[in-house]
Amino acid sequence: MAELLRSGAVVALPTETVYGLAADAMNTQAVRQVFAIKGRPLIDPLIVHINHLNWLDELTDSVSLRGYVEMLVEAGFWPGPLTLVLPRRKVVPDLVTAGLETVAIRYPAHPLMRRVLDLSGLVLAAPSANPFGYVSPTMARHVWESFGERVPHILDGGPCSAGIESTILDLSIEGRATILRPGPVTLEALRAVLPIPVSVHRKQADADGKKEGLKAPGLLTRHYSPRTPMTLFSEIDSVAISNPAESAVVFISKSDVPPNLGCPHCFWLSEDGSLKTAAHHLFELLRKLDNGDYGHLYWQLPPEQGLGMALRDRLQRAAAR
Ligand code: TXA
Ligand code: MG
Repeated sequence: MAELLRSGAVVALPTETVYGLAADAMNTQAVRQVFAIKGRPLIDPLIVHINHLNWLDELTDSVSLRGYVEMLVEAGFWPGPLTLVLPRRKVVPDLVTAGLETVAIRYPAHPLMRRVLDLSGLVLAAPSANPFGYVSPTMARHVWESFGERVPHILDGGPCSAGIESTILDLSIEGRATILRPGPVTLEALRAVLPIPVSVHRKQADADGKKEGLKAPGLLTRHYSPRTPMTLFSEIDSVAISNPAESAVVFISKSDVPPNLGCPHCFWLSEDGSLKTAAHHLFELLRKLDNGDYGHLYWQLPPEQGLGMALRDRLQRAAAR
């Protein structure tokens, strides 16, 4: 894998969040292939994955922010499912940052990803390894099912533990921190660690291309995640299931399933309501049901607190038409 990457190839690699489609971030030709394989518009920037904090000096202009980075490291969030948006240095290709003045950096914890980073000596630009606009892959099989021979090198690290993409935290504006994408590192956890105000940027929930301006008409609408229409609910009583025999109903916890639901296809993401377990299974179940013969998916939203914010974000994007 390391050799392939050094020679400019694109490979799929496991991380603790989702599988990534990786290329040498400094090799624009290789990065261009990542965009092409994914069908991703060039205006949507990529995350650069590093295996050592020393890379920050190389890639970012963040000396004044180093105190915050150290707090995040000390809290155990880095390495981990957290991406920091920092002022960039010019060495980072414009292609990677889509010409922005910032670069998104992630220091992943997954041992295989770390090993490949170490052996290659590279920093890797890697978006989630799904066709643009579709559900992120949490298993090697998902990458294969989407791309087949177009991604001939997939490193199988088993199912991804977190199961949803990293939290993206923008530190590039002085004196505050903004969550651009909620994820496994929660708002509450970041507020407990950082001495500056931490807020959530709501609009960025659309960053994966649902912004009107990013849509490529005719190409994307049919690929949107998932293909099956989806209705979200908080309480099952609040939603009318129009065609129970052809619908799937998903609950966060087994104990949320009413005994007299009257719907034959009923699923749950966790036995006990653990949102961590729910996140781990979310995309896998979404893919499975989308590939099933259901006319409609009904999906329970968890409460907004903690990891619930990230789960709600992914479900709301999936249900958006
Ligand atoms: O967990 C993850 O973050 C996975 C694994 C593979 O690391 N990667 C991932 O990448 O989810 P991707 O490309 O699917 O999502 C990255 C998001 C995109 O929405 C992109 O717009 C945003 O990060 N992004 C990248 N660079 C940015 C920047 N400089 N400023 C703001 N947003 C940025
Ligand atoms: Mg993605």
